[in-house]
Amino acid sequence: MITIETLVKRYGQATPVLRGVSFAVDAGQTTAILGKSGVGKSTLLRCLAGLEGFEAGAIVVDGVRVEGGKSPRPLRGRVGVVFQTLELFPHLNVVDNCALAPVVVQQRPRDEVVAEVHALLRTLDVDSVAHVHPEAMSGGQRQRVAIVRALMMKPRVLLYDEPTSALDPSLKAEVGRTVREVAERTGMTQVVVTHDPAWADAHCDDIFILDETGLTKTKNA
Ligand SMILES: Nc1ncnc2c1ncn2[C@@H]1O[C@H](COP(=O)(O)OP(=O)(O)OP(=O)(O)O)[C@@H](O)[C@H]1O
Ligand SMILES: [Mg+2]
Repeated sequence: MITIETLVKRYGQATPVLRGVSFAVDAGQTTAILGKSGVGKSTLLRCLAGLEGFEAGAIVVDGVRVEGGKSPRPLRGRVGVVFQTLELFPHLNVVDNCALAPVVVQQRPRDEVVAEVHALLRTLDVDSVAHVHPEAMSGGQRQRVAIVRALMMKPRVLLYDEPTSALDPSLKAEVGRTVREVAERTGMTQVVVTHDPAWADAHCDDIFILDETGLTKTKNA
């Protein structure tokens, strides 16, 4: 589902941040990426999401190939991102948060979109908060709603940047359960950047470590 071929990404420095990173993820797998701070994990996710271009190499997501030096835009519709801050709109209830982009950006009929939102909320056991605003939900519920909102764009791959950092242990476990349920119930292919090896071991199929030499696989379930 995802192939990265000797990706090179630099920000004007002499030494690139990513210097020839290669990696592959099969459909339906949940893959963790570990690595020390500043090594380029978020940069790798932004390239994969089509939010940033890169100098050399290639990224292929579900058959769509983007080469270095080319516009990464074709990746955007295929790759969803759940940001650490979730970025839910505080003034909108859950259904409106999830329906906004499909209705306004994709101009799909609202009735059909809302029915789809409820179906996904049920899949992730949060339909009970469908008409609640974000501030009145638990952290775990907010995370599930942010995932539903990302899934409404029908991505082929879902990325998470440090979904558990700064969370207490019980909420970390809840995020782990959520990530596994998304895989089991929707078949989504997921890549999760985390600082927590024990969490990755408990909840992810594969674990890669990113360092200056590239990505190395340490676990294959
Ligand atoms: N927009 C940018 N412009 C210039 N340099 C950048 C930019 N974004 C990131 N960098 C540099 O690229 C390197 C990798 O940053 P990145 O945020 O990808 O690291 P990270 O592995 O996600 O770190 P952390 O674990 O702290 O989140 C760092 O040296 C950072 O300073
Ligand atoms: Mg980061």
